[in-house]
Formats: sequence, structure tokens, C-alpha cells
Amino acid sequence: MYYPDELVEEVRSRNDIVDVISGYVKLQKKGNSYFGLCPFHNEKSPSFSVSRQKQMYYCFGCGAGGNVFTFLMEYENFTFVEALKALADRAGVELPEQDVSAEAKEKFRKKAVLLEINKEAAKYFYAQLKTPRGERAYTYLKNRKLDDETITSFGLGYAGKQSSDLYQYLRAKGYGEEQIREAGLINVSEKYGAYDKFNNRVMFPIMDANQRVIGFGGRVMGDGEPKYLNSPETPVFDKSRNLYGLHRARTSRRPYFLLCEGYMDVIALHQAGFSNAVASLGTSLTSGHVSLMKRYVREVYLTYDSDGAGTKAALRAIPLLREAGIGAKVIRMEPYKDPDEFIKNLGAEAFEERISQAKNGFLFTLEMLERDYDMDSPEGRTEFMRETARRLTEFDEEIERNNYIEAVAGVYHTGVEELGRLVAKTAVQRGLARPARRPAQAEKKDRGKENGRVKSQRILLTWLIEDASVFHQVRKYIEPSDFEEGLYRTVAQLLYEQYESGAVNPAQIMNHFTDEEEHREAAALFHTRIRDLESPREQEKALRETLIKVKEYSLEDAARNLDPADIKGLQHLMEAKRSVQDLRKLHISVN
Ligand code: GTP
Ligand code: MN
Repeated sequence: MYYPDELVEEVRSRNDIVDVISGYVKLQKKGNSYFGLCPFHNEKSPSFSVSRQKQMYYCFGCGAGGNVFTFLMEYENFTFVEALKALADRAGVELPEQDVSAEAKEKFRKKAVLLEINKEAAKYFYAQLKTPRGERAYTYLKNRKLDDETITSFGLGYAGKQSSDLYQYLRAKGYGEEQIREAGLINVSEKYGAYDKFNNRVMFPIMDANQRVIGFGGRVMGDGEPKYLNSPETPVFDKSRNLYGLHRARTSRRPYFLLCEGYMDVIALHQAGFSNAVASLGTSLTSGHVSLMKRYVREVYLTYDSDGAGTKAALRAIPLLREAGIGAKVIRMEPYKDPDEFIKNLGAEAFEERISQAKNGFLFTLEMLERDYDMDSPEGRTEFMRETARRLTEFDEEIERNNYIEAVAGVYHTGVEELGRLVAKTAVQRGLARPARRPAQAEKKDRGKENGRVKSQRILLTWLIEDASVFHQVRKYIEPSDFEEGLYRTVAQLLYEQYESGAVNPAQIMNHFTDEEEHREAAALFHTRIRDLESPREQEKALRETLIKVKEYSLEDAARNLDPADIKGLQHLMEAKRSVQDLRKLHISVN
């Protein structure tokens, strides 16, 4: 599906970003910008800024940023086209119908219908709970100590005993059998025809971050199998990319999430005032869940069940979170099974205390590891420390590694220096034992290098966008072709074109990227944080170094791709390399 650039730009320019965002975030004018509390992470003082001049937003806290399309994509979970449509609608711009492929249109329409059906079903279940037929379910929830306000705010309901109540109800509303089946609400058998999937169960509607009902969990009252029955995956229900309770947790003021296992845990925690609780949907934690959480928080407290399965799940989750740069802590529920029971027995204050005693994820992992060793014998302890040292080598960053060495030494009563030496020795041994690095590690190192390269390009682009005078000083040395092929080079080309024709319009450059991932990546490009450098001299130095890096990487590439027989090319390259020397002496003034 393709909309012409002019049209996309028209829609963008007719939706002033300050006006649009004001509909979601309370903004206050400060100097040239507007500030408010960032809707993409939890914070107490405003670091979310919107610029009318640039028609972009940026959060100094979490780094979220982009133009008016990006905002709707992030906030409403829209695709680019959905955002485009919503904004076209808002500004009264008509979008040509024929440009949307029939297939895409159908998919979009189908999703909308499924969401509608789910919403109707949730309303139906909810209403059932309040009828005499739903009395047992209502009593069940009451016995589980949920109050009416909680029941309402989570939209809990009841699916009746009759085999096709909901089906009949939805049919009467005008939905077809196939649509209802696709929503995962009925099964169809040859013998019995269509019948409700959920029977005689307490119903938990599952909502996405934007409060749209995307699926259900249904619990038997009392014993019975399965205890929980969940909606199947549907075009609107992706279990690995949604979290139960997120629609409320996202606006919680706490800077971390409590991640638990069950629906009931989430609900009990919210009722007790912990509105930052979420749960994965009856599946183990996936990288999809992790990146979803990363939009809102930088820290996750694991509040898993205190049984073996819960511990195992925590041990799996910790590295997954760490890889994504999210700090993990572990809250223990002993002597109770899960947060729900803990709260019921000991109350919110005691839970708060457990939060404050939460264990660092890595130290928790070691504590569990102890079980595999005979910690009372010197050999056992030594073996344990060796394994611990091995794990410590996995912290790439020296400061972090040293902090952990210190913490571990404290816990296990060894000298910091001895442990440090053991870690260093282990690192060397592992390196020596494997002259060819493990593939995973080698890859990681490559990626690190790749990142260095990409990062300097990103910083330079941000600089060029921010400061016209930098552009005019630098253009002699750097061309769009010095940037990596693809997104970066395209952005550079567009930027250079805009400068040539007079005015820079970063928000317009963003329009160019209608592919989801590209759009988000491009948005990040415009907001790479340039270290807060105090003096202009420091800034100039940093800029010069960035410039040299970009050029060197570009020349490295050129050298690699050069045909050895291409004498002219070789000469050219040598000249270019010499000119990098000039760059080192270049004086750039920064505004
Ligand atoms: P309660 O007994 O109601 O307190 O359940 P719980 O919330 O403590 O759940 P439990 O720890 O037994 O399970 C955690 C989560 O796993 C539940 O919230 C469900 O999402 C999921 N789950 C539990 N049992 C089943 C089951 O039988 N089938 C499926 N598909 N999911 C289940
Ligand atoms: Mn439970």
C-alpha cells in the first residue's frame, strides 16, 4: 500500500504536533518548547518535550521521539497507515481509497471487527455476572476477596452454562459464524455445530495497552480441568506481545513493573494499590514481552510463584531482561504460594516490605546455583566460586563487572581482589581455551563494532539536523555516500537535499519511512543523545572525533570493496585517507 509523499506531508503539516499531543498529554510552554510528563515511561517531573517549530517530540528521560505519526504509532499502538488515517481524519484530508491494497484493507477491517466482537463479548460476560445465573461466579470472586470496584475495573464476567448463549447473542448483533469463530469465542463441530468455547467460567478479559479487548482467560470455579482456558491466538491476540494488566500499569507512577504469573496475582496486586503489576499470558516470558515492557520501565521485579516452576521461570527471565538492558530483581513470596495469597494473608504493607527486600537478579541466580554445590566443603565452595567467576566474565562492561565482583565477594565472604583475579584468570583461560571465539561471542563483538560505526553516524546525523552551521562547515568532508547504505544514507540524502533547497524539515524526512521498523529507527536518528558537553570546545572536539570516525569507517568500506587492479581508485583512496589528517586539524564552531 502506498500513499504519495505529498499526501503524507499534507496530512502531517495539517496536524500541528502540539495540538495533537495536547489531546493526550498535559503540556506547558517553556521557552520554545512545550513540556509534560512522558506518556512512554513513568516519571515525576516533566522531561517530555514537544517543539512546534520542529514538529517533533522528544523525551529526555527515555529517549522516545519522532513526529506526529510516530507519536500515534507509539501511543495508540498504530501502524504507520493507521496513524496516517487517524490524522487524515482529524484534519479532514481525504485519502484515496484505491491506494490501499484490497488485501491490506481487508486485514484492517477484519481486525476491527474482531476487536468489536471481543468488546461485545466482554460486555456480555460482565452483564451475566450481575444476573441471578451469574451469582455463583460473583460469589466466587467475592470469596477471592475482590471488591466491586476491582471487578468492574478489570471487567470480570461470567460465561454461562448454556452451550451457545454467547454465540446466539453475537449472531443477534449481526456477526457471522466465521467471524465469531475467528475471534476464538466458539468451536464448531460437525455434530453440534457452533458452541461457546467458554462455559461456566469466570471470565477475565485481556486488554492491550490501549484498553482494547483482545482475548479472554476463563477460570473454572473450584476444581476442574483445565483450570484456566485461554483464547487461542487470533489476528488481534498475540500472547507473546501482550501483558495482562498493562493497560493500567502503563500509567502507574512507579518506575518499575511487578511481573507475576497469574491473572489473579495482577488483580490482587492492583487492588492492594500496586497498579504496576503485569503478567505474561499463561506463557513464559518472551523477548516480545521484554521489549514491550522496555517502552515503559527500565526495571522489572519478578514476583513469580515460590515453587520450583516459579523459580525456574525467574532464572530464565533474568538474563532475558538483562540482555535488553532491563534490571531484574526478585521478590520472594514465601511462605505463600503467590502474590495473591501473600496479599490476602499479610496485606499490602508486608508486600511493600518484600519489594524493598527484593534481591538483585544476578545474586538470586547465584543463590539458586548454590544448591548444586556442597557449600560446606572447601572443594564444593571452590567449584562454586569458579562457576561464579565464569558468570561474572559475562558482564562486558568493566564498571558493572567490578560492582558485581564487589557484591559477590561481600555475600560469599571472599576478598574482592582474589575474586577479581579469579575472574580475570577465567576470562583469559576461556579466551585461550578457545582461540576461535565462540560464535555467539564473536557475533556480539562484531555487533559492538557495528554499533560503534552506526552510532557515530547517528550522532553526526543528529548534529547535522540540529545545527545548520555545522552542516555548512562539514559538507565539504562528508557526503551522503559516507553513510551506511539504507536508512542512514537515505536520511542523509534527504537532509542534504533539504539544505540545498533552503530549509530543513526533519518531520518531513520522517514521512519517507512508512515501514514500521524503519519509521521508529528513523525517529531515533533525529534524537541521538549527544553527550551533555559543557564547553563549546568540548563539543567541537566531540564533533570532530565523530566526523573522523564516520569518515574512517567509510574509507574502510571503500578499501574493502576496492578492486586491487583499480589503480585510480587506489590513488583516490590514498588521497581521501590523507584528507582525514586534515580533518584532525579542522576547526568547527558549534552553536
Ligand atoms: P488461581 O488458582 O486462580 O489463583 O490461579 P493463579 O493465578 O495462581 O494461576 P497459576 O499460578 O495456577 O497459573 C498462572 C497462570 O498460568 C494463570 O493465570 C493462567 O494464565 C495460566 N494457567 C494456569 N492454569 C492453566 C491451564 O490449565 N491452562 C492454561 N492454558 N493456562 C493456565
Ligand atoms: Mn493463585
